[in-house]
Amino acid sequence: MARYDGLAEWYDGYIHGGGGSEYTDEIRRLLRELVGSGAGRLLDVGCGGGAFFDQLSALGWSVVGVDDSADQLRIAAPPKPRALS
Ligand SMILES: C[S@@+](CC[C@H](N)C(=O)[O-])C[C@H]1O[C@@H](n2cnc3c(N)ncnc32)[C@H](O)[C@@H]1O
Repeated sequence: MARYDGLAEWYDGYIHGGGGSEYTDEIRRLLRELVGSGAGRLLDVGCGGGAFFDQLSALGWSVVGVDDSADQLRIAAPPKPRALS
């Protein structure tokens, strides 16, 4: 069992207004500064519930997330499967 299995809902609530906004703001700042905008695929390793997919997509990246935790990936998964070409 992966470390974040069983914690994914809690973590998702935490970073979306449950006390983790300072962390989220700092990650968003670092993504703007260190990753920036671009085209092409971006691999988000340890993507968790995909909290930063929206920002990375808005920066122009085609995001692919990978995570050890099946519970985290259930939150990250888009509502419909997407084909990767
Ligand atoms: C602190 S959470 C961060 C999640 C996300 N990046 C965010 O900032 O909201 C760390 C994540 O890394 C994942 N993780 C830890 N070790 C990993 C590994 N070896 N391979 C893939 N994912 C891993 C965990 O399952 C967890 O979802």
